[in-house]
Amino acid sequence: MSLDYTNPKLLADTSKVETGEFTWRSPSNLAIVKYWGKHGRQLPRNPSISFTLENAFTDTRLEFGPKKSSEQSIELDFFFHDEPNPAFQKKLVKFLESVSDIFPFLHQFAFTIRSGNSFPHSAGIASSASAMSALALCLCSMEDEIFKTLQDDVEFDKKASFVARLGSGSACRSIYGGLAMWGQMGEVENSSDLYAVPYSDETHEVFKTFHDDILLVSTGEKSVSSTAGHALMEDNIYAAPRFQQAGQRMHNLLEALRTGDVETFGNIAENEALTLHAMMMASNPSYMLIEPNTVEIIKRVRAYRAETKEPLYFSLDAGPNIHLLYPEEIIHNVAPFVESQLLPLCQDGKMIQDWVGEGPVQV
Ligand code: DP6
Repeated sequence: MSLDYTNPKLLADTSKVETGEFTWRSPSNLAIVKYWGKHGRQLPRNPSISFTLENAFTDTRLEFGPKKSSEQSIELDFFFHDEPNPAFQKKLVKFLESVSDIFPFLHQFAFTIRSGNSFPHSAGIASSASAMSALALCLCSMEDEIFKTLQDDVEFDKKASFVARLGSGSACRSIYGGLAMWGQMGEVENSSDLYAVPYSDETHEVFKTFHDDILLVSTGEKSVSSTAGHALMEDNIYAAPRFQQAGQRMHNLLEALRTGDVETFGNIAENEALTLHAMMMASNPSYMLIEPNTVEIIKRVRAYRAETKEPLYFSLDAGPNIHLLYPEEIIHNVAPFVESQLLPLCQDGKMIQDWVGEGPVQV
Protein backbone atom coordinates (compact mmCIF):
# COMPACT_ATOMS: atom_id res chain seq x y z
CA MET A 1 0.00 0.00 0.00
CA SER A 2 2.03 2.91 -1.16
CA LEU A 3 0.98 5.78 -3.31
CA ASP A 4 2.76 9.06 -2.83
CA TYR A 5 1.14 12.15 -4.26
CA THR A 6 3.61 14.46 -2.51
CA ASN A 7 5.04 16.56 -5.32
CA PRO A 8 7.22 19.63 -4.57
CA LYS A 9 7.36 20.40 -8.32
CA LEU A 10 3.76 21.57 -8.48
CA LEU A 11 4.62 25.24 -8.13
CA ALA A 12 3.10 27.64 -10.63
CA ASP A 13 4.81 30.39 -12.56
CA THR A 14 2.73 33.18 -11.00
CA SER A 15 3.74 35.65 -13.69
CA LYS A 16 1.75 33.54 -16.16
CA VAL A 17 -1.08 32.07 -14.09
CA GLU A 18 -2.97 34.73 -12.17
CA THR A 19 -6.64 33.95 -11.71
CA GLY A 20 -9.12 31.20 -12.38
CA GLU A 21 -12.12 29.30 -11.05
CA PHE A 22 -13.51 25.78 -11.02
CA THR A 23 -16.94 24.55 -10.00
CA TRP A 24 -17.99 21.00 -9.22
CA ARG A 25 -21.33 19.56 -8.16
CA SER A 26 -20.68 16.44 -6.13
CA PRO A 27 -23.25 14.13 -4.56
CA SER A 28 -23.54 12.58 -1.15
CA ASN A 29 -23.54 8.80 -0.77
CA LEU A 30 -25.22 6.19 1.39
CA ALA A 31 -23.07 3.35 2.66
CA ILE A 32 -24.66 -0.09 2.69
CA VAL A 33 -21.71 -1.63 4.57
CA LYS A 34 -20.50 1.17 6.82
CA TYR A 35 -17.09 2.71 7.41
CA TRP A 36 -16.98 3.19 11.19
CA GLY A 37 -13.55 3.23 12.80
CA LYS A 38 -10.29 4.53 11.32
CA HIS A 39 -6.56 4.66 12.00
CA GLY A 40 -3.44 6.44 10.78
CA ARG A 41 -4.05 9.17 8.24
CA GLN A 42 -7.71 8.53 7.44
CA LEU A 43 -7.41 4.80 6.82
CA PRO A 44 -10.52 2.65 7.31
CA ARG A 45 -10.68 -0.25 9.76
CA ASN A 46 -12.89 -2.16 7.31
CA PRO A 47 -13.99 -2.00 3.67
CA SER A 48 -17.24 -0.19 2.84
CA ILE A 49 -19.51 0.25 -0.18
CA SER A 50 -22.07 2.91 -1.04
CA PHE A 51 -24.66 4.15 -3.48
CA THR A 52 -23.77 7.55 -4.85
CA LEU A 53 -26.89 9.72 -4.74
CA GLU A 54 -28.27 12.16 -7.29
CA ASN A 55 -30.27 14.91 -5.58
CA ALA A 56 -28.35 15.34 -2.32
CA PHE A 57 -25.28 17.26 -3.46
CA THR A 58 -22.88 20.12 -2.75
CA ASP A 59 -21.94 22.80 -5.28
CA THR A 60 -18.45 24.16 -4.68
CA ARG A 61 -16.68 26.94 -6.54
CA LEU A 62 -12.96 27.44 -6.00
CA GLU A 63 -11.67 30.84 -7.15
CA PHE A 64 -8.04 31.83 -7.02
CA GLY A 65 -6.11 35.04 -7.54
CA PRO A 66 -2.91 36.79 -6.48
CA LYS A 67 -1.97 36.57 -2.81
CA LYS A 68 -2.48 39.66 -0.69
CA SER A 69 0.26 38.92 1.81
CA SER A 70 3.76 37.51 1.43
CA GLU A 71 3.21 34.97 4.22
CA GLN A 72 3.35 31.24 3.60
CA SER A 73 -0.02 30.55 5.25
CA ILE A 74 -3.16 29.59 3.30
CA GLU A 75 -5.26 32.60 2.31
CA LEU A 76 -8.91 31.65 2.19
CA ASP A 77 -12.32 33.33 2.27
CA PHE A 78 -15.17 30.88 2.64
CA PHE A 79 -18.86 31.42 1.97
CA PHE A 80 -21.57 28.87 2.72
CA HIS A 81 -24.85 29.71 0.98
CA ASP A 82 -23.39 33.19 0.31
CA GLU A 83 -22.69 33.88 4.00
CA PRO A 84 -19.20 33.99 5.51
CA ASN A 85 -18.78 30.95 7.77
CA PRO A 86 -15.76 31.23 10.09
CA ALA A 87 -16.19 27.74 11.61
CA PHE A 88 -16.13 25.98 8.23
CA GLN A 89 -13.43 28.34 7.02
CA LYS A 90 -11.15 27.29 9.86
CA LYS A 91 -11.72 23.60 9.08
CA LEU A 92 -10.98 24.18 5.42
CA VAL A 93 -7.78 26.12 6.06
CA LYS A 94 -6.61 23.21 8.20
CA PHE A 95 -7.50 20.75 5.46
CA LEU A 96 -5.81 22.78 2.70
CA GLU A 97 -2.73 23.13 4.88
CA SER A 98 -2.70 19.35 5.37
CA VAL A 99 -2.73 18.69 1.60
CA SER A 100 -0.25 21.42 0.67
CA ASP A 101 2.47 18.75 0.28
CA ILE A 102 0.27 17.29 -2.50
CA PHE A 103 -0.66 20.69 -3.95
CA PRO A 104 2.25 23.07 -3.08
CA PHE A 105 0.60 25.77 -5.25
CA LEU A 106 -1.95 26.23 -2.45
CA HIS A 107 0.59 28.53 -0.81
CA GLN A 108 0.98 30.66 -3.94
CA PHE A 109 -2.53 32.09 -4.37
CA ALA A 110 -5.40 33.65 -2.42
CA PHE A 111 -8.56 31.51 -2.53
CA THR A 112 -12.28 32.03 -2.24
CA ILE A 113 -14.47 28.98 -1.83
CA ARG A 114 -18.25 29.28 -2.25
CA SER A 115 -20.25 26.26 -1.29
CA GLY A 116 -23.87 25.28 -0.88
CA ASN A 117 -25.82 22.08 -0.26
CA SER A 118 -29.09 20.91 -1.71
CA PHE A 119 -29.97 19.61 1.80
CA PRO A 120 -29.55 20.67 5.45
CA HIS A 121 -25.97 20.16 6.70
CA SER A 122 -25.06 18.12 9.83
CA ALA A 123 -28.37 16.26 9.56
CA GLY A 124 -26.76 12.90 8.94
CA ILE A 125 -26.92 13.23 5.16
CA ALA A 126 -23.15 12.93 4.99
CA SER A 127 -22.62 16.54 3.91
CA SER A 128 -18.90 16.05 4.48
CA ALA A 129 -18.89 13.45 1.70
CA SER A 130 -20.35 15.77 -0.92
CA ALA A 131 -18.47 18.83 0.32
CA MET A 132 -15.03 17.24 0.52
CA SER A 133 -15.41 15.36 -2.76
CA ALA A 134 -16.45 18.59 -4.53
CA LEU A 135 -13.46 20.41 -3.10
CA ALA A 136 -11.03 17.60 -3.97
CA LEU A 137 -12.33 17.67 -7.56
CA CYS A 138 -11.81 21.46 -7.72
CA LEU A 139 -8.23 21.05 -6.48
CA CYS A 140 -7.49 18.37 -9.08
CA SER A 141 -9.05 20.56 -11.80
CA MET A 142 -6.80 23.42 -10.74
CA GLU A 143 -3.72 21.19 -10.80
CA ASP A 144 -4.63 19.89 -14.23
CA GLU A 145 -5.36 23.35 -15.61
CA ILE A 146 -1.98 24.70 -14.53
CA PHE A 147 0.30 21.68 -14.93
CA LYS A 148 -1.64 19.35 -17.31
CA THR A 149 -0.72 16.49 -14.98
CA LEU A 150 -4.14 14.80 -14.70
CA GLN A 151 -5.22 14.44 -18.32
CA ASP A 152 -6.06 10.78 -17.89
CA ASP A 153 -9.61 10.55 -16.42
CA VAL A 154 -8.83 7.41 -14.42
CA GLU A 155 -5.81 9.09 -12.81
CA PHE A 156 -7.80 12.26 -12.20
CA ASP A 157 -10.54 10.38 -10.36
CA LYS A 158 -8.07 8.30 -8.37
CA LYS A 159 -6.24 11.36 -7.11
CA ALA A 160 -9.52 13.18 -6.40
CA SER A 161 -10.71 10.17 -4.39
CA PHE A 162 -7.42 10.01 -2.48
CA VAL A 163 -7.58 13.72 -1.61
CA ALA A 164 -11.31 13.56 -0.76
CA ARG A 165 -10.52 10.73 1.67
CA LEU A 166 -8.06 12.97 3.51
CA GLY A 167 -10.88 15.50 3.97
CA SER A 168 -13.51 12.97 5.03
CA GLY A 169 -13.29 9.20 4.66
CA SER A 170 -16.71 8.64 3.13
CA ALA A 171 -16.05 11.42 0.57
CA CYS A 172 -13.66 9.21 -1.39
CA ARG A 173 -16.62 7.08 -2.56
CA SER A 174 -18.59 10.07 -3.92
CA ILE A 175 -16.13 10.53 -6.80
CA TYR A 176 -17.82 7.65 -8.65
CA GLY A 177 -21.41 7.28 -9.83
CA GLY A 178 -23.40 4.11 -9.15
CA LEU A 179 -21.75 1.99 -6.49
CA ALA A 180 -18.30 2.70 -5.10
CA MET A 181 -16.23 0.67 -2.67
CA TRP A 182 -13.37 1.75 -0.43
CA GLY A 183 -10.97 -0.45 1.50
CA GLN A 184 -8.61 -3.22 0.53
CA MET A 185 -10.30 -6.59 -0.11
CA GLY A 186 -8.55 -9.55 -1.67
CA GLU A 187 -11.54 -10.38 -3.84
CA VAL A 188 -11.80 -6.91 -5.44
CA GLU A 189 -8.99 -6.13 -7.82
CA ASN A 190 -7.48 -2.64 -7.40
CA SER A 191 -9.34 -2.06 -4.13
CA SER A 192 -7.42 0.10 -1.68
CA ASP A 193 -7.54 1.75 1.72
CA LEU A 194 -6.22 4.90 0.04
CA TYR A 195 -9.03 5.63 -2.43
CA ALA A 196 -12.36 4.27 -3.60
CA VAL A 197 -12.97 2.31 -6.80
CA PRO A 198 -16.15 2.15 -8.89
CA TYR A 199 -18.16 -1.02 -8.39
CA SER A 200 -20.98 -0.68 -10.94
CA ASP A 201 -19.78 -2.90 -13.79
CA GLU A 202 -20.09 -6.00 -11.64
CA THR A 203 -23.54 -5.04 -10.38
CA HIS A 204 -26.92 -6.47 -11.40
CA GLU A 205 -29.29 -4.14 -13.31
CA VAL A 206 -31.80 -3.93 -10.45
CA PHE A 207 -29.29 -1.95 -8.34
CA LYS A 208 -28.57 0.59 -11.07
CA THR A 209 -31.90 2.35 -10.64
CA PHE A 210 -32.39 1.75 -6.93
CA HIS A 211 -34.24 4.40 -4.95
CA ASP A 212 -33.04 6.00 -1.74
CA ASP A 213 -35.61 8.41 -0.33
CA ILE A 214 -34.25 10.32 2.65
CA LEU A 215 -36.94 10.79 5.29
CA LEU A 216 -35.99 13.86 7.32
CA VAL A 217 -36.93 12.82 10.85
CA SER A 218 -34.91 15.67 12.30
CA THR A 219 -32.68 18.20 10.59
CA GLY A 220 -31.08 19.65 13.72
CA GLU A 221 -27.30 19.52 14.13
CA LYS A 222 -25.84 16.23 15.32
CA SER A 223 -24.76 16.13 18.96
CA VAL A 224 -21.66 14.02 18.18
CA SER A 225 -19.75 14.34 14.89
CA SER A 226 -18.78 11.28 12.83
CA THR A 227 -15.12 12.09 13.42
CA ALA A 228 -15.67 11.87 17.19
CA GLY A 229 -17.73 8.70 16.68
CA HIS A 230 -14.88 7.01 14.76
CA ALA A 231 -12.50 7.88 17.61
CA LEU A 232 -14.81 6.23 20.16
CA MET A 233 -14.44 2.93 18.29
CA GLU A 234 -10.85 2.73 19.53
CA ASP A 235 -11.97 1.81 23.05
CA ASN A 236 -15.18 0.04 22.10
CA ILE A 237 -14.97 -3.57 23.28
CA TYR A 238 -17.05 -4.69 20.27
CA ALA A 239 -14.69 -3.04 17.78
CA ALA A 240 -12.70 -6.12 16.71
CA PRO A 241 -15.71 -8.39 16.05
CA ARG A 242 -17.44 -5.46 14.35
CA PHE A 243 -14.59 -4.96 11.86
CA GLN A 244 -14.57 -8.67 11.16
CA GLN A 245 -18.34 -8.69 10.67
CA ALA A 246 -18.09 -5.78 8.21
CA GLY A 247 -15.59 -7.76 6.13
CA GLN A 248 -17.89 -10.80 6.07
CA ARG A 249 -20.91 -8.67 5.18
CA MET A 250 -18.95 -7.05 2.35
CA HIS A 251 -18.24 -10.47 0.92
CA ASN A 252 -21.91 -11.48 1.14
CA LEU A 253 -23.11 -8.13 -0.19
CA LEU A 254 -20.82 -8.14 -3.23
CA GLU A 255 -22.28 -11.49 -4.20
CA ALA A 256 -25.85 -10.22 -3.70
CA LEU A 257 -25.03 -7.17 -5.84
CA ARG A 258 -23.73 -9.37 -8.63
CA THR A 259 -26.63 -11.80 -8.60
CA GLY A 260 -29.42 -9.26 -8.03
CA ASP A 261 -30.38 -10.76 -4.67
CA VAL A 262 -32.41 -7.85 -3.30
CA GLU A 263 -33.45 -9.67 -0.13
CA THR A 264 -29.88 -10.39 1.00
CA PHE A 265 -28.95 -6.83 0.05
CA GLY A 266 -31.81 -5.42 2.13
CA ASN A 267 -31.06 -7.56 5.16
CA ILE A 268 -27.43 -6.51 5.13
CA ALA A 269 -28.38 -2.83 4.68
CA GLU A 270 -30.71 -2.91 7.70
CA ASN A 271 -28.33 -4.87 9.91
CA GLU A 272 -25.47 -2.53 9.06
CA ALA A 273 -27.54 0.54 9.91
CA LEU A 274 -28.56 -0.91 13.27
CA THR A 275 -25.03 -2.13 14.02
CA LEU A 276 -23.68 1.37 13.36
CA HIS A 277 -26.08 2.85 15.90
CA ALA A 278 -25.50 -0.02 18.33
CA MET A 279 -21.79 0.87 18.22
CA MET A 280 -22.63 4.46 19.16
CA MET A 281 -24.80 3.32 22.05
CA ALA A 282 -22.06 0.92 23.22
CA SER A 283 -19.35 3.60 23.09
CA ASN A 284 -17.92 5.20 26.19
CA PRO A 285 -19.37 7.77 26.61
CA SER A 286 -22.47 6.29 25.07
CA TYR A 287 -24.60 8.38 22.75
CA MET A 288 -27.69 8.01 20.63
CA LEU A 289 -28.54 9.77 17.37
CA ILE A 290 -31.81 8.04 16.50
CA GLU A 291 -35.11 9.62 17.56
CA PRO A 292 -38.41 8.01 18.58
CA ASN A 293 -39.75 8.62 15.07
CA THR A 294 -36.72 6.84 13.58
CA VAL A 295 -37.75 3.70 15.47
CA GLU A 296 -41.42 4.13 14.57
CA ILE A 297 -40.56 4.40 10.86
CA ILE A 298 -38.36 1.28 11.07
CA LYS A 299 -41.28 -0.64 12.58
CA ARG A 300 -43.68 0.57 9.90
CA VAL A 301 -41.26 -0.34 7.09
CA ARG A 302 -40.87 -3.84 8.49
CA ALA A 303 -44.64 -4.23 8.93
CA TYR A 304 -45.19 -3.04 5.34
CA ARG A 305 -42.69 -5.60 4.09
CA ALA A 306 -44.27 -8.42 6.10
CA GLU A 307 -47.72 -7.54 4.80
CA THR A 308 -46.99 -6.80 1.14
CA LYS A 309 -43.92 -9.04 0.61
CA GLU A 310 -42.42 -6.10 -1.28
CA PRO A 311 -38.66 -5.40 -1.01
CA LEU A 312 -38.77 -2.13 0.91
CA TYR A 313 -35.77 -1.71 3.26
CA PHE A 314 -34.16 1.03 5.32
CA SER A 315 -30.71 2.27 6.17
CA LEU A 316 -29.37 5.01 8.43
CA ASP A 317 -26.36 7.27 8.28
CA ALA A 318 -24.83 8.77 11.38
CA GLY A 319 -28.06 10.61 12.23
CA PRO A 320 -31.78 10.15 12.85
CA ASN A 321 -32.93 10.24 9.23
CA ILE A 322 -34.14 7.13 7.45
CA HIS A 323 -32.95 6.14 4.00
CA LEU A 324 -35.70 4.11 2.30
CA LEU A 325 -34.21 1.64 -0.16
CA TYR A 326 -36.27 -0.05 -2.86
CA PRO A 327 -36.15 -1.10 -6.51
CA GLU A 328 -37.67 1.22 -9.09
CA GLU A 329 -40.39 -1.30 -10.01
CA ILE A 330 -42.32 -0.88 -6.73
CA ILE A 331 -42.29 2.93 -6.66
CA HIS A 332 -46.03 3.22 -7.37
CA ASN A 333 -46.88 1.14 -4.31
CA VAL A 334 -44.26 2.67 -2.04
CA ALA A 335 -45.13 6.32 -2.79
CA PRO A 336 -48.67 6.31 -1.29
CA PHE A 337 -47.43 4.35 1.76
CA VAL A 338 -44.66 6.88 2.38
CA GLU A 339 -47.05 9.77 1.91
CA SER A 340 -49.71 8.50 4.30
CA GLN A 341 -47.71 6.49 6.88
CA LEU A 342 -44.16 7.86 7.03
CA LEU A 343 -44.16 11.54 6.08
CA PRO A 344 -46.31 12.51 9.09
CA LEU A 345 -43.41 11.24 11.25
CA CYS A 346 -40.89 13.54 9.52
CA GLN A 347 -39.92 17.07 10.49
CA ASP A 348 -42.35 19.38 8.66
CA GLY A 349 -43.40 16.31 6.66
CA LYS A 350 -40.20 16.56 4.61
CA MET A 351 -38.18 14.10 2.56
CA ILE A 352 -35.64 14.18 -0.27
CA GLN A 353 -36.57 11.84 -3.09
CA ASP A 354 -33.35 10.35 -4.29
CA TRP A 355 -31.88 7.45 -6.24
CA VAL A 356 -28.58 6.05 -7.48
CA GLY A 357 -26.81 8.87 -9.29
CA GLU A 358 -24.21 9.23 -12.00
CA GLY A 359 -21.55 10.93 -9.91
CA PRO A 360 -20.00 14.41 -9.82
CA VAL A 361 -20.19 16.88 -12.70
CA GLN A 362 -18.05 19.88 -13.47
CA VAL A 363 -20.32 22.88 -13.86
C1 DP6 B 1 -21.73 6.58 9.19
O1 DP6 B 1 -16.68 10.03 6.47
O2 DP6 B 1 -18.16 11.47 7.90
O3 DP6 B 1 -21.55 7.79 7.16
O4 DP6 B 1 -13.71 10.41 7.91
O5 DP6 B 1 -14.18 11.46 10.11
O6 DP6 B 1 -14.94 12.58 8.02
P1 DP6 B 1 -14.65 11.27 8.72
O7 DP6 B 1 -16.03 10.51 8.85
P2 DP6 B 1 -17.22 10.33 7.80
O8 DP6 B 1 -17.91 9.03 8.42
C2 DP6 B 1 -19.05 8.55 7.79
C3 DP6 B 1 -19.55 7.38 8.46
C4 DP6 B 1 -20.89 6.85 7.98
C5 DP6 B 1 -20.68 5.54 7.23
C6 DP6 B 1 -20.13 5.61 5.85
O9 DP6 B 1 -20.40 6.59 5.12
O10 DP6 B 1 -19.48 4.65 5.45
